[in-house]
Amino acid sequence: MKQIGVGILGFGTVGAGVAGGLLAHREVMARRLGVDIVLRKVADLDITTDRGVAVPADVLTTDAESVVADPSVDIVVETIGGTGIAKKLVLAALAAKKCVVTANKKLLAEFGREIFDAAEKSGVDIYFGASVGGGIPIIRVLREGLSGNEIESIYGILNGTCNYILTRMEREGLPFDEVLKDAQRLGYAEANPSLDIDGFDTAHKACILSALAYGFQPQLDQVQVEGIRGLSGMDVKFAADLGYRIKLLAVVAKEGDEVEVGVHPTLIPLDHMLAGVNDAFNAAMVKGDLSDRTMYYGRGAGREPTASTVIGDIGDIARNLAHGETRYQRAVPNYAEGRVALRAAGDIASKFYLRFMLEDRPGAIGAVAAALGRHGVSISALSQKGAREGKEPVPVVAMTHRAKASALDAALDEIRASGVTGEEPVKLRVL
Ligand code: HSE
Repeated sequence: MKQIGVGILGFGTVGAGVAGGLLAHREVMARRLGVDIVLRKVADLDITTDRGVAVPADVLTTDAESVVADPSVDIVVETIGGTGIAKKLVLAALAAKKCVVTANKKLLAEFGREIFDAAEKSGVDIYFGASVGGGIPIIRVLREGLSGNEIESIYGILNGTCNYILTRMEREGLPFDEVLKDAQRLGYAEANPSLDIDGFDTAHKACILSALAYGFQPQLDQVQVEGIRGLSGMDVKFAADLGYRIKLLAVVAKEGDEVEVGVHPTLIPLDHMLAGVNDAFNAAMVKGDLSDRTMYYGRGAGREPTASTVIGDIGDIARNLAHGETRYQRAVPNYAEGRVALRAAGDIASKFYLRFMLEDRPGAIGAVAAALGRHGVSISALSQKGAREGKEPVPVVAMTHRAKASALDAALDEIRASGVTGEEPVKLRVL
């Protein structure tokens, strides 16, 4: 049986999971794929810490460049993360005509075009299945299973850390910081958790999905990104009282020749399938014009689930290489080159949840309702949560009908200027 050599760059959470999985499943993969996948090298600056995987001593090295150059390594797996050394090594591997597997969403969201072009130039494959959705092979679904569809929309819960935090805040009434610490301990969170809680990790993934679905990868700084930092337990509770659960939702959708790409904490009706996606689980609901709605659910973070998808990619490449398929597999996005544009944030229409802290006095709610009305934003439900006349401001929650974001923002500016609310109003989208 032909042997295909693998070199892993980065022996952290994911790298160790991939090494362990390749060693444990070598035989079953050989039977399934007809190729013997051999772990040749694992590189990391720290090769002394125990990662819970029994990797032979001669496989470990601190010299990542030697792994890329090693003639016995056919597939280079990048699990370092970030855009510094990881980018340099991925480009070096592609230039050396090595196939690459990466789980690095930040790298692809920021430099995808450069990296995919390098792969195309060398005529080798780059697979990135674990860059979105961890253990859910959603990339493969878009690339293969749904390739005959016009994709109308993708709604994704794509960050395990945020979903874990939101779930425990809602269920247990725990404070944000305490739950974040647990997510870090469980290996869900990024080294810099701001990427998770400020929504950028989800935005990276949304950009990759947009590239696959529409051949359109927006610049990250053009994408509307709202995270969950500062989300109040009060809104989690009021949303629940109204029959909703708050999730950090990625939206990738197309209407005409405009693509919407955004990340927002969003109220999801409790009877919607996405509202049932809890803890560190992820899901993506994809609507194709032929398939209609399909949904993919699984563990979006963590060592073994992410390793599962990385190893699936390695298996695919190994099978191609072993069976003489050296042709470039077009696993990368087919760029639409100017045929679509990003939809302006103000043009996006949605229902909204609004919370104001109002003085409990005559005319306060009237001022809010009048400003919304002047800008054509129609209220579908309004409730004052408690009554403390003359004392502290009271929360007033309004649900709107579908309204354009620019109209709502103009109304909120008027409400701020009217002085009825001391605190910044809370505005959340409703699915
Ligand atoms: N930090 C990410 C998450 C890991 O929490 O989902 C998977 O990309």
